[in-house]
Amino acid sequence: MKIWLLALVATATAGVIPRPVEVKEGEGQLKIEAGGFVALRDYDKRAWVEALSEAAGVELRMAPADVGSVVQFLGTDFVPDGLPKPTGEGYVLRIQPQTAIVHADTEAGHFYGLQTLVQLLEEAERDDGATLLPCATVIDSPRFGWRGFMLDESRHFSGKEAVLRLLDQMARYKLNRFHWHLTDSPGWRIEIKRYPKLTEIGSRGSETDRREDAPRQFYTQDEVREIVAYARERGITVVPEIDMPGHADAAVRAYPEHDGGGFKNGKPFKWSRFTFNPAKPETLAFLDGILEEVADLFPDAGVIHFGGDEVHFGWGKWKELPEVKALMEKEGFSELAEVETWFNRRMAGKINELGFATGGWDEIAGRDLPRDGTLVFWWRHDKPQVLRRALDDGYPVVLCPRRPLYFDFVQHDSHKVGRRWGGFNPLDQVYAFPDSLNVLEPGDADQVRGIQANLWTETTVTQARRDFMTFPRLLALAEAAWTPADRKDFADFEERLKDQLPRLDRAAVGYYDPYRSSPEVKR
Ligand code: ACM
Repeated sequence: MKIWLLALVATATAGVIPRPVEVKEGEGQLKIEAGGFVALRDYDKRAWVEALSEAAGVELRMAPADVGSVVQFLGTDFVPDGLPKPTGEGYVLRIQPQTAIVHADTEAGHFYGLQTLVQLLEEAERDDGATLLPCATVIDSPRFGWRGFMLDESRHFSGKEAVLRLLDQMARYKLNRFHWHLTDSPGWRIEIKRYPKLTEIGSRGSETDRREDAPRQFYTQDEVREIVAYARERGITVVPEIDMPGHADAAVRAYPEHDGGGFKNGKPFKWSRFTFNPAKPETLAFLDGILEEVADLFPDAGVIHFGGDEVHFGWGKWKELPEVKALMEKEGFSELAEVETWFNRRMAGKINELGFATGGWDEIAGRDLPRDGTLVFWWRHDKPQVLRRALDDGYPVVLCPRRPLYFDFVQHDSHKVGRRWGGFNPLDQVYAFPDSLNVLEPGDADQVRGIQANLWTETTVTQARRDFMTFPRLLALAEAAWTPADRKDFADFEERLKDQLPRLDRAAVGYYDPYRSSPEVKR
């Protein structure tokens, strides 16, 4: 009997990803039956009741009062002695014989308690139409505040339905930042009312379709608002990226008067209009206008990411531009890097003025931007000294190095399509990050805001391949971002992952199955 009980209890939290901070096993079971009430405090969240109903396999109802409800969302006043009072995104979930209570101080905390409860319900035993949930107490809060995923929409466009489905999966696994890479050289993907040609012309084409009359692919402002609201309901902040001064071809194709050139060492570069003119007043005003509309569309983003990467690859023509010459003379600059710094500071100033921090790839760390208004995204895994220096210089950072967090890298040695760079990015290496990184020091904790994976879409022409490259690595990322280092255990994660794969099937999300070596989705 005792052994049987232990076995039952062991399954109580067996499937939860990301693994919670602490789970205390209880005694007995909570029986959930059709018609049971869910007390939502002051939230008007029919969707939460529906999620619980679906997971439990029985129809639950919104309660008129807390009393007598089988699931209750409560504040922290009622947390019993001996348990911590959750703050921020944390929660305490108490499953008792009469009721399951989610305690939290914020809507985000309640939402994450809901996600854990949903996963527990999905795997709970069914008995004669009821669902039997083993009693337990879960004490949980995230390791990192920034738990991100970036999607490149420029190389290949995903579209609204795919993005909403992605947000569902991110929310389920407690990721909270969707970094939306909306502009780059192949295509401009966001409607800007003041500059209609950005989408009339700039949204045509992709990495693999360079025809001038290729179909337009972009998000209207209404769609952007819908996606931002959908994400917000799921605890996810959408952070837009509008690239400058490089990765600008699509915009310059639409408005050639802002061209800053794109030749590399005199040789024709793939993208001949790679940069904006960094010193032309009309171009700066044009970029200001774009940023103003973006600020309006993403009021809660906190950060507007302005790219800032790889500029030197395409600045070969800057020295010939009259506006750049005049700027260099006026400011006494002798190097183009000084022009880049001047441009970065000018545009970061605009973003700060609009009330946002400036996000940028790690190149911006050398530009002496305000530490309290800047967020550096470290991506060059081969330049750990850049991360070290950014930290030493006082910048907050998000860690998203190519190895192991670029999901356009292959995930299995047998895979033929996708990037490699002294290796590739298998599930276990995603999982082991950032504890596998030897650059960090204990004193960095306050500046390391979190971690993020990036899906660049050069080689992912279809949604099926984007899914294949994203999953199941997204789940390993989620646990790496949420679960404290001393609770991480890859072997244990793999066991739980096996239970989650059928859930991805049910959500019609594709993935690489490492346990069946499923065939590579190459296109
Ligand atoms: C990047 O991969 N160029 C940020």
